[in-house]
This record gives sequence, structure tokens and C-alpha cells, in this order.
Amino acid sequence: MTILILGGTTEATALARRLAETCPGMPALVSLAGRTSAPKPLALPIRIGGFGGIDGLGAFLAENRVAVVIDATHPFAAIMPFNAEAACRLAQVPLLALRRPPWTPVAGDTWIEAKDMADAAAALGAEPRRVFLTIGRQELGAFARAPQHHYLVRSIEPIGDVLPAPHVTRIEARGPFLVEDELALMRRERIDLVVSKNSGGAQTEAKLAAARGLGLAVVMVARPAKPDVATAETVDQALAWLAAHGLTPTERGV
Ligand SMILES: NC(=O)c1ccc[n+]([C@@H]2O[C@H](COP(=O)([O-])OP(=O)(O)OC[C@H]3O[C@@H](n4cnc5c(N)ncnc54)[C@H](OP(=O)(O)O)[C@@H]3O)[C@@H](O)[C@H]2O)c1
Repeated sequence: MTILILGGTTEATALARRLAETCPGMPALVSLAGRTSAPKPLALPIRIGGFGGIDGLGAFLAENRVAVVIDATHPFAAIMPFNAEAACRLAQVPLLALRRPPWTPVAGDTWIEAKDMADAAAALGAEPRRVFLTIGRQELGAFARAPQHHYLVRSIEPIGDVLPAPHVTRIEARGPFLVEDELALMRRERIDLVVSKNSGGAQTEAKLAAARGLGLAVVMVARPAKPDVATAETVDQALAWLAAHGLTPTERGV
């Protein structure tokens, strides 16, 4: 019986490492969508690519004798969590969502809350501004409707032509980022406004401290809806949930 981790996040990477360390030999694998051309190495075997919707995931669960699923996809993954909920419910496989808490504003922050990317693009206003887009690659197209702004786009992968606007500067980089580097970047690029997903976590939060330090507003995009499933916020909580399902080093005698 196998533990299936739906990955693509720091938490999935950390859970894989902890499982490999504490339960050597425990059958487990991490599934990646395949969005990143050079994913970071993982401590467990990986498989890459979509399953083919709910039915495809259901077939995968049966073929691979999956005992439990941990949905450790990104807080902004909008489809996979629902597919996992449906497939696991139909197959009667226990499912845990591992989701880091969102960021909350602290003293000195100026946040403009946006419900989605279209809302964020509208929140930039009519006057041209220099905008730091730190939302990854997939949803950049929403900002094509506000071509008056100058965009500094940072993404892990090249963005290609997903943002057809006249003033776009591209940076390819992968977190974690340091506050002093974020400050230097925002100063150098004369940024007026930052756009961020409310991803939460430590990997990319330096941009928020830098914006605070420079007195810049952050357009903060809310997370998409998620299914109502058992949820852990930390890797330790996920390991405890696995233990409650009999998947521990002790119970296996490792
Ligand atoms: N969205 C973000 O902001 C973001 C940021 C960082 C990392 N990621 C990671 O990138 C991946 C894709 O994100 P997304 O926003 O495109 O997700 P999504 O909209 O929820 O998923 C779209 C489709 O991609 C496939 N998929 C997603 N996650 C998968 C996984 N872990 N293993 C296998 N197939 C997967 C599924 O295809 P099938 O229906 O064919 O199974 C799913 O229907 C996720 O693994 C996520 O953790 C996303």
C-alpha cells in the first residue's frame, strides 16, 4: 500500500524528506503536475503529469494500491484539490489536505484585497504605474487588460507571450528570497505597487517586508475555494495524521 503525495510545494518536499528519513522503505511517491522544467530533487520517487481528471486519479489509486492521499498542492491550485476529494471519496481512500496558513497583514502593511486576478488588475487603477507582479506565470494574462502599466514579472519559468502588454520586464528566479535583495530590486526598478497571491509560507514573504519597508501597497489576491476535507497546516500535523492511519515507523517496526 502506497502513500500518494500530490506535490509542487515546499511542504510536499519537506514531507517527502521527513517520510524518507523516519520511514525508510515505506512505499510512497510524490506526484507533480510537470509545470516546472527542472523540479527540485525529492527524497521520494516521483511521477510527473496529470492523471486525467477524477476518473484518471481514481484508476491510479486502484492500480497503485494507494492507502492514503495527502494533497500538498499549492494554495492556488484550484482544480486538483477537488479532483482529489472526489476520487478519494469514490475510492474510499483517506485524504488529508496539507495547506500552509495564509499571510495576514501586520502593522505598517497597506494591503488592497483582491478576490481574483481580474480584480487585482482593476485595482491597479487608470494611471500608469510600475507594478511588481509576483504571481507566477499561469495567470499573468489577466493583466493584459491594463496595458498602461509597466510590469516587472518574476517567475520560475520563462513567461513566453502570456502577458501581451507593451512594457514588461522579465526576471526568472526561484525563492527563497532575502528582504535586502527584494528591497534592492524594488528600489532599482522604482516599483510603485506589488501584486501577490496570498500563498503564505516563508519562501516568498520577504517581498511583503520589503514593500512594508518602502511604504508600498500590496494588492493581495485571495485564495481560490477548496473542498471541505481534513486539513493539516504543518508537516508534523500531517505525520501525526499518517500515524493515526497506522502509517508510522513504530507500527511498521522500522
Ligand atoms: N497555482 C499556483 O499558483 C502554483 C504555485 C506553485 C506551485 N504550483 C503547483 O503546480 C501544480 C499545478 O498547479 P495548478 O494551479 O495548475 O493546479 P490545478 O489548476 O489545481 O490543476 C490543473 C491540473 O493539473 C494537474 N495537476 C495539478 N497538480 C498535480 C499534481 N500534483 N500531480 C499531477 N497532476 C497535477 C491535474 O490534471 P489532471 O486533471 O489531468 O489530473 C489538474 O486537473 C500543482 O502541483 C501545484 O502544487 C501551483
